[in-house]
Amino acid sequence: MSNVVILGAQWGDEGKGKIVDLFADTFDVVIRYQGGHNAGHTVKVGDRTFVLKLIPSGILRPGKIAVIGNGLVVDPAALIQEIETLEKTGVDVSGQLRISNRAQVILPLHRMMEKMSEAIGTTWRGIGPSYEDKTGRRGIRIADLMEPAAFSSMFEALLAEKEKIARALGIYQETVFAQVRDEYLRHAERLRPMVCDTARLVNQAIDSGKRVMFEGAQGTMLDIDHGTYPFVTSSSASVGGACTGAGVPPTRIHGVIGISKAYITRVGAGPFPTEDKTEMGDHIRNIGREFGSVTGRPRRCGWFDVPLLRYTAMVNGFDSLVVTKLDVLDDLAEIPVCVEYRMDGEEIQEMPATCRGIERIQPVYEKLPGWNTPTAGLTHYDDLPSNAKDYLAFLETEMGVEVGCISTGPERNQTILIPGSKLAKLLA
Ligand code: IMP
Repeated sequence: MSNVVILGAQWGDEGKGKIVDLFADTFDVVIRYQGGHNAGHTVKVGDRTFVLKLIPSGILRPGKIAVIGNGLVVDPAALIQEIETLEKTGVDVSGQLRISNRAQVILPLHRMMEKMSEAIGTTWRGIGPSYEDKTGRRGIRIADLMEPAAFSSMFEALLAEKEKIARALGIYQETVFAQVRDEYLRHAERLRPMVCDTARLVNQAIDSGKRVMFEGAQGTMLDIDHGTYPFVTSSSASVGGACTGAGVPPTRIHGVIGISKAYITRVGAGPFPTEDKTEMGDHIRNIGREFGSVTGRPRRCGWFDVPLLRYTAMVNGFDSLVVTKLDVLDDLAEIPVCVEYRMDGEEIQEMPATCRGIERIQPVYEKLPGWNTPTAGLTHYDDLPSNAKDYLAFLETEMGVEVGCISTGPERNQTILIPGSKLAKLLA
């Protein structure tokens, strides 16, 4: 009975939504463990496309329990909007969704405070300031929101403090306390039936032999500790976040699956060693439709970065890697892959700890032949052109991690699961 973590191996947008939705079929519970509605997971089911921001992708599988863990920051209005959009399409959200009473609440004042962090190109959802209040031990949690009197006094105190700071910084935006309070208390009643101690729920599910999938958002290189700090998100997007953000010990987790594109993208500012700023980068963006699903921003595009993958594999202990969007490379004559980092002419083995260091990396590329044959929609490994197989085998050897699954399109069935792989065993 394997419980697994599925998370992004690059800078987010690796296609986790589709993969979590696909694999959710073999799990009973899917829990998101960090982030907020900064994430955007696009899932295509038949002719319908869903963009999930806070709700785990498992929600699209009838009968599965989808959980918003304690590690998240929740904007109640955004959550309710997402619930209502899903309910209109017939998804039984109230029956399937559970929300941690220990998750943090995002308030409008968090978006006001975010003006201070504009320089790193955040998603503008109040995520960072909300996590700041959490670690500052003044945050308001879902359990507080469920108690109107406690919520009102905590909110009033926090608002008074933030307004003072915002005025001093010249970023003040008026918030009408009573109006926002009443709005939040209305949201509280809508969410109340779904709120519970989700750590207890998940541990009890495991006790009774159920299978749990832990769903990461963003990607390891956006992790607050292990990413390209300070150009990161404010939570633990790597595997350790699954334990703290769900309330489950590591001994109950049996496998870690990384998701990576066949190339790489990044949205927002920050260092990006293999970024291609030429027309080729634009080509990948157009073919791969690389525009943010939450903000619509164009994503920066570049080449598969083996040293970066080795680093994220080390931090997360990947058992297997899912490679997505292979078909985006279908028409390239040759495909560069970064195999080594150099600095001042010398090979370096470590990911530099600072952005200043990462900016100085000189990537060394090996060019692999393209396959010039459509792979979109293929479902069997044997049907892949031999150069595509060689490309995947090359990545596998260079990274030291198996490629257990390949995604060849946005639909559930446009997927190749490698029989006999560690991944196939974890899902069995
Ligand atoms: P924040 O999470 O809104 O604070 O933004 C911090 C950084 O993380 C910015 O560079 C964002 O573009 C990036 N980011 C946040 N969420 C995602 C995501 O789901 N995919 C890709 N990048 C993200």
